[in-house]
Amino acid sequence: MAKRRFLITSALPYSNGRLHVGHIAGAYLPADTYVRYLKARGDEVRFICGSDDNGVASLISARKEGKTVEELTAHYNYRQEADFKGLGIVFDIYGGTHQPDFVELHNKISQGMFKTIYDKGYFVKKKTKQLYDTQADQFLPDRYVKGKCYQAMPDGSPCGYEEAYGDQCEHCGRAIEPIMLIDPVSTITGTKPEPRETTHWYMQLPQFEDKLREWLESKRQVGDGEPAWRETVLNFSLGQIKTGLPERAMTRDLDWGVPVPLDDPDAAGKMLYVWFDAPIGYVSFTARHCELVDGDWQQYERWWKDPDCRIVHFIGEDNTVFHALTWPAMMLAEGSYQLPWQVVANAFLNVKFPGKDEEKISKSRGTAIWIEEYLKTFDPDPLRYYLTAVAPENQRTAFDIDDFINRNNTELLNALGNFVNRTLTFAQRYFDGKVPDADTRETIDNEHIAAIAGQAEKVTENLEAFRFKAALAEVMALARSANVYFDAKQPWKQRKEDMGACGTTINVCLQTVKALTVLMNPFLPFSAARCKEMLKLEGDILPWDEVTRELPAGQKLGEPVILFKKLDPGELFNESAK
Ligand code: 2FM
Ligand code: ZN
Repeated sequence: MAKRRFLITSALPYSNGRLHVGHIAGAYLPADTYVRYLKARGDEVRFICGSDDNGVASLISARKEGKTVEELTAHYNYRQEADFKGLGIVFDIYGGTHQPDFVELHNKISQGMFKTIYDKGYFVKKKTKQLYDTQADQFLPDRYVKGKCYQAMPDGSPCGYEEAYGDQCEHCGRAIEPIMLIDPVSTITGTKPEPRETTHWYMQLPQFEDKLREWLESKRQVGDGEPAWRETVLNFSLGQIKTGLPERAMTRDLDWGVPVPLDDPDAAGKMLYVWFDAPIGYVSFTARHCELVDGDWQQYERWWKDPDCRIVHFIGEDNTVFHALTWPAMMLAEGSYQLPWQVVANAFLNVKFPGKDEEKISKSRGTAIWIEEYLKTFDPDPLRYYLTAVAPENQRTAFDIDDFINRNNTELLNALGNFVNRTLTFAQRYFDGKVPDADTRETIDNEHIAAIAGQAEKVTENLEAFRFKAALAEVMALARSANVYFDAKQPWKQRKEDMGACGTTINVCLQTVKALTVLMNPFLPFSAARCKEMLKLEGDILPWDEVTRELPAGQKLGEPVILFKKLDPGELFNESAK
């Protein structure tokens, strides 16, 4: 297999709160699964993430929590990274756009990009009116104005959503200019803000419409190892281009962020728009990583500017406009970057508590299932399993607590865990804890061995195409067929009649456990690590092409351990639902 090069990113979480299951299902778990697969395959991969510290959201949360903004962002940067680690989501580097170890390089690269785009003439300086909260005595950042949406739906009818935020409307999905919201209200003080004059630099996005359209169209039908993009991402982005991209102000009146690098009195005290510097965080964290591992931060160009490297962004659907339009337009304007190879967006996740209706995840309504809370009581793999099994790949899905328990107990425990356990226990008890010989394989055994290769191919195909839910279903199909094989062969009877035949069965089952170990590793890394020990497989990485390489007869096995615990509905999520 030829070695490929990938730069994978997960959306930078705002460092002003905790992470819940919806975050994980959207931008982090699928990325980690993909990265684990690529690494097993032997590809060269960097997996980049870190916190989105700038912008006013952090300032306002800091005010609420009585901390400085530096303290607040450091605090959540740390807690979020701990959540990721607890779930086995492992980045090559976890940065933060305003964290001490990263901010210098981040500002330098962000300001450099702004300057290059400015020098090329893609910014227009404009005096505009912006909403000002006289009570809080500050210009209102986009996210802190609410009002009625003035945009049109794709069919041309007015959107009119009453709860639209000043950056984006959740109903029609379009970008919002806060000053145009109907009946705006400040979410900081609840008062009606007034328009005041200020100066900002607007990026001329309309000039990139043709190039963006052509690029996005080229992602509809690609082949030869390049999977087409999800329809949801393409339809949304091309739809936006069709109705026309607006020019966007890329500066803000704030005293926290990346200073606007212009020698112009009007730029004094202004910062880059957080959505301008946030995606550059992917680049600056890569540069920091290069500095740490190669001793030269400029090596980031090997990942960001070399067309041999494939850039893949994993995001939640609300970030689509920024990753499939604004950020690529910035890259085009700057001129030396290559465009993302894939933008993988997931829809939102709802929750469903027992006896209640399905509802949106909401911190204020107490419907969030927090990762910190989950990890206090439960193992990470059942959550990884469930969030992939119900992944909102093309539409909203729900984290249904009853379903979570049910799938843990029937699928993970009864199908996968049970098969691994019964095989290993049998080998330990009747074959001295070693892989038995298999020289009497018959059709049923050969068919099962062939089925392993067939399933492995299906898992691979789905992973290559970013269909994680389908890939996991194929792993589980192999586990189920392995149980069917075990039951059909009845080794507990064979043992009394023909030890050689029984050995063949257990040998084939152990080969299946080995294949399952390789295949489950991207999804269930903690359980795969236990299987690896039970099979006494060497090395840190489980190479993907090991999936069909058979364990030699006579190999010593480790102690069987239980992979999954039965979960009881009573003990679940009482804490987090509060
Ligand atoms: O929506 C969010 O949580 C943003 N903080 C995502 C930023 S992604 C990237 F551009 F940095
Ligand atoms: Zn709208």
